[in-house]
Amino acid sequence: MRLTINKIQDMKKAGEKITMLTAYDYSTAKIVDESGVNLILVGDTLGEVMMGYETTLPVTIEEMLFHTKAVVRGTKNALIIGDMPFMTYQINADEAMRNAGRFMQETGCQAVKLEGGATVANTIKRIVDAGIPVMGHIGLTPQSINQLGGHRVQGKTPDTASRLLDDALAVQQAGAFAIVIELVPMQLAKVITSRLSIPTIGIGAGPYCDGQVLVIHDMLGWFTDFVPKHTKQYANLADVIKTAVSSYMDEVKSGAFPTAAHTSSIDEELLKDL
Ligand code: KIV
Repeated sequence: MRLTINKIQDMKKAGEKITMLTAYDYSTAKIVDESGVNLILVGDTLGEVMMGYETTLPVTIEEMLFHTKAVVRGTKNALIIGDMPFMTYQINADEAMRNAGRFMQETGCQAVKLEGGATVANTIKRIVDAGIPVMGHIGLTPQSINQLGGHRVQGKTPDTASRLLDDALAVQQAGAFAIVIELVPMQLAKVITSRLSIPTIGIGAGPYCDGQVLVIHDMLGWFTDFVPKHTKQYANLADVIKTAVSSYMDEVKSGAFPTAAHTSSIDEELLKDL
């Protein structure tokens, strides 16, 4: 049975922390789901960690749909959220609804996520009114990276902190079931979390959020271009992969792999006429 948005909201009421990770493919999603993570986000960070772009801006809806389908196929328990990529919800609410509908109909995910505060509240409301659960995303919103001037902590002054609280309230008022808070000081995340009835999911926002999210390639030490300050690496998959690949190459070169156990055989008599 997949987790529902009601269950996620009950977890906040019960003071139970919510876990969320990204996944972009069938095999990874299956392992994450079997581990019991509550929410899986098919994030547009796939542009960076899967496709090698410098930002999330080039990611298209077709690419997001492709990866979201794979994640849905690999999972049974987690609630799957498809991330709406740049320019699929900013133009107008009709287009946003059409694109949110594509995520639901074509991938089988259970919710969509979009970035922004008060300025996207009307769009969130239209999508929610159509019966599609929406997760909000405020603070550092990577699709606005050029406007924000880089990966900077948001809400460090009284004015910007107050604007972020207003944004969070507007997203909640519009009907979002939960909200990601990215790269804001932990004290501000604590205030926002206490003022909202919907769960806050933090990334680089400290321990007081109702839940946490990390990019799976970052937390597994799989993405080697850089390690964001807010990430904790729970493994070093890059080293594991390099060691395995070196052993494979050594064994192929030395003839240690493959052995008879990795192949099939027939009676050599059958080949005597060749
Ligand atoms: O795209 C993504 O992976 C995200 C998370 C960082 C929250 O938006």
